[in-house]
Amino acid sequence: MTGLRFLVLGAAAGGGLPQWNCNCSNCAAARDPSSGLAAQTQSSLAVSIDGENWAIFNASPDIRQQIQQTPQLHPKALRHSPIRSVIITNADVDHIGGLLTIREKQAFDLFSTSAIGAVIDANPVFRVLDRAFVKRHAIRLDEDFSPLEGLEARIFAVPGKVALFLEEGEPELGLEGEQTIGIEFIAAGKRAYYIPGCATLPDWLCERIRGADLVFFDGTVFTDDEMIRVGTGIKTGERMGHMPITGDGGSLEALSKLDIGRMVYVHINNTNPIWRNGAERDAVNAAGFEVGHDGMEIDLD
Ligand code: MLT
Ligand code: MN
Ligand code: ZN
Repeated sequence: MTGLRFLVLGAAAGGGLPQWNCNCSNCAAARDPSSGLAAQTQSSLAVSIDGENWAIFNASPDIRQQIQQTPQLHPKALRHSPIRSVIITNADVDHIGGLLTIREKQAFDLFSTSAIGAVIDANPVFRVLDRAFVKRHAIRLDEDFSPLEGLEARIFAVPGKVALFLEEGEPELGLEGEQTIGIEFIAAGKRAYYIPGCATLPDWLCERIRGADLVFFDGTVFTDDEMIRVGTGIKTGERMGHMPITGDGGSLEALSKLDIGRMVYVHINNTNPIWRNGAERDAVNAAGFEVGHDGMEIDLD
């Protein structure tokens, strides 16, 4: 079987659902087995062509659990992993923390822009990824690379900012460079995108993804001031480099006009009301979007 196969390993944003120190109504529900709201791990997507070899987009701090709950990623021999490559879309902890888990002298290719690679290289703890086994590749914006045999991919800058732990004072928001990237996948005549962090949707980006078969998109917050209103934080989505789903400059309205086959929100913050049944989730579904969840599988054949 060939085609593009996607597996959402983690649908939640940094912190996961529930987040360790949060007792908002979503986090409380995710701890209550009778609520019907399943816990969700942090931001990661697995992609395969043959179902046997997988590329992992973002190494979440939950990767050990994600591998455990995904039979496709279990070892098939005494020492083995179906994970052939790991690609990083930004240097935030939810996307690089899992690199520390997948050490143990297992060979794979690690792809990132040179700016993201420099963040990893600058921290000696990542030397646990023995370079004799883990090859680090710098990929350039808008150049093709192949994270798996038979899979053509391309990275491109999307509006974003530097990783939270690298912020000094007020960071530049809406930076278009190597800090935050989207991925374009092409295989078997299908075109798909993975954009888990995005600050705005400028026209050039809309044109790029127009007509795609599938787009996984940043669903961090439903409204820009959501964390402030819920009382869990003082930052807006905009300040975090994440455009809201609704309201001024929301992703729902912009993406709805682009003739995209399937639209799936991922990187969803624990405060986001779309986790639960209700008006917000209904609005998202009515506009043709799906709410990502751990274990969600999408095959484009
Ligand atoms: C984000 O997407 O805003 C980051 O994951 C923040 C963080 O590292 O906690
Ligand atoms: Mn994040
Ligand atoms: Zn919460």
